[in-house]
Amino acid sequence: MELTERILSAAEYLRNKLPESPRIGMILGSGLGDYAQTLEDIIRIPYSEIPNFPVPTVPGHSGALVFGRKYGLYIVILQGRIHYYEGLSQRELTLPVRVLSALGVNTIVLTNACGGVNLSFNPGDLMLISDHINFSGSNPLIGPNLDHFGPRFPDMSDLYTASLRKMIREKAEENKISLREGVYAMYSGPNYETPAEIRMFRTLGADVVGMSTVPEALVAGHCGMQVIGVSCVTNMAAGVLPVKLSHAEVMETADRVHDQFQKLLDLILTVL
Ligand code: HPA
Repeated sequence: MELTERILSAAEYLRNKLPESPRIGMILGSGLGDYAQTLEDIIRIPYSEIPNFPVPTVPGHSGALVFGRKYGLYIVILQGRIHYYEGLSQRELTLPVRVLSALGVNTIVLTNACGGVNLSFNPGDLMLISDHINFSGSNPLIGPNLDHFGPRFPDMSDLYTASLRKMIREKAEENKISLREGVYAMYSGPNYETPAEIRMFRTLGADVVGMSTVPEALVAGHCGMQVIGVSCVTNMAAGVLPVKLSHAEVMETADRVHDQFQKLLDLILTVL
């Protein structure tokens, strides 16, 4: 089956189970999945039950669509994401983002854990993504253009919607949530970067580095969605500190800032 047909049939399957169309989508990264439990009137659908949906393999990414209500908004959360390093093409692993678009989502909030490249950042900092560098080695829009969703050569000059970022920064300040802003560079993983790669990313203008988000943001932008990106700096990137990097440290920091992160997501919903 053609990709567009597979996307539309997954959307059709979901639409029949929902009381209304979600307008807001969220993708929750490492250690952040439980935000979904703060919604009301939850409908949870495991990825494995949805026709044509890819299923993630990483611990900490449980894999379900969670629909529910918060602050008068009907929201859909992708709880657990597929990473490029798991082996699927970026075109395939972003299928869920297009399904959200087909369901009516026009704004997507992408969250992730990342390494701090900017030397003024600290583990535990939260950062609004202002822009990205696609250093993943691929692009989800490669292949025949899906004309149903967007143009062959989509503009990316305001991908991480500046007007929404301004409102979020103001709200964060009012609510005394400290918030950085900066550029997210994607590296494929699954290994953490080398110290030389991190120096390169710093020279290129990156503030943080991670293994996700960029393919989803590109596809969301292609579909015409507004994108908001929020990164949690779980560790300083390789070579910044004389310590080894580990997934355990990533999960520990994500856990430590869990409450602040949830507050920030709540506050983001109030500006949408
Ligand atoms: N590099 C890449 N991805 C990450 C990191 C990192 O240092 N920390 C959390 N995700």
